[in-house]
Amino acid sequence: MKQQLLNIDAEAKKALEGINTAAELEEIRIKYLGKKGELTAILKQMGSLSSEERPIIGQLANKIRASIEDAISKKDSELKESGLKEKLISEALDVTLPGKKQVLGHKHPLTLVLDEIKEMFLGMGFDIVRGPEVETDYYNFEALNIPKDHPARDTQDTFYITENILLRTQTSPVQIRTMEQKKPPIRVISPGRVYRSDALDATHSPVFHQIEGLVVDKGVTMADLKGTLEMFAKKLYGEDSVVRFRPHHFPFTEPSAEVDVMCFNCHGKGCSLCKGEGWIEILGAGMVHPKVLSICGIDPDEYSGFAFGMGLERLVMRRYQIDDLRMFFENDMKFLSQF
Ligand code: PHE
Repeated sequence: MKQQLLNIDAEAKKALEGINTAAELEEIRIKYLGKKGELTAILKQMGSLSSEERPIIGQLANKIRASIEDAISKKDSELKESGLKEKLISEALDVTLPGKKQVLGHKHPLTLVLDEIKEMFLGMGFDIVRGPEVETDYYNFEALNIPKDHPARDTQDTFYITENILLRTQTSPVQIRTMEQKKPPIRVISPGRVYRSDALDATHSPVFHQIEGLVVDKGVTMADLKGTLEMFAKKLYGEDSVVRFRPHHFPFTEPSAEVDVMCFNCHGKGCSLCKGEGWIEILGAGMVHPKVLSICGIDPDEYSGFAFGMGLERLVMRRYQIDDLRMFFENDMKFLSQF
């Protein structure tokens, strides 16, 4: 029996040498030390031994069990260590490799120019305000001195939602909302989307952007309007820009004007950019109609104001020489990635 025990010891140690995995290790543990293992099987035969032999064999068996256990746990930590090493090697990071470049998104051309314009007006002490795109007939027309039968309604083909609710055709309703909420002095610009039921082509879109401006205070005159817009044109088109006011009509301003800048491409001679005119129309403007002030609860005898409105798309098209407005809305990466 002593020899059997010694054999088991030797066999177990030998078996341990040749293994590489935790599963194999567990197999060995079960084979030699498990409840149905070889060592247990021998110990079960202890009953047949004499009382002198029993403690001797018992001691030896315990020693061998302890020694095999020891060898197993040693192997276990060896396996774990080499496993960790392998893992570290296979998962090693080469920190000297160049990183993957993150592609940064960038701003849409409309946003780029709008940001620039916002900065200019913020610098002149204007606030930026916003209004809803779904408007009531009252704010979009009525309060702007455009009653139901007014011919100006025909020029702004309107998307109606109900008889009294519509998609705003201009940013001018924000003038009304601002004057209702704030007492003068008022100095705001309001950029945003507007809608008109125009067919989509190279120069028209049913959705486009306007930037509205409004100043109301005591003693505001047409000279302030001219000064402000001249300053704006110079910042946008360069210090040598020349601005001209042409008489026009808007129901909500009186007097009204359309404002042109001298073509920055040909300096007034006439070229393809200005279609031979020498001038480029950039916006509509005027002195806020006294009726509109009154409607908003502002006394026109005490206060006066000016307003202007411009289309963003046209401005940006000229800036970057884009000849088709549809490009702004098609989200073609080849186009967008140029800005
Ligand atoms: N709302 C006008 C338009 O859409 C532009 C405008 C704004 C004119 C403010 C005068 C004053 O044509």
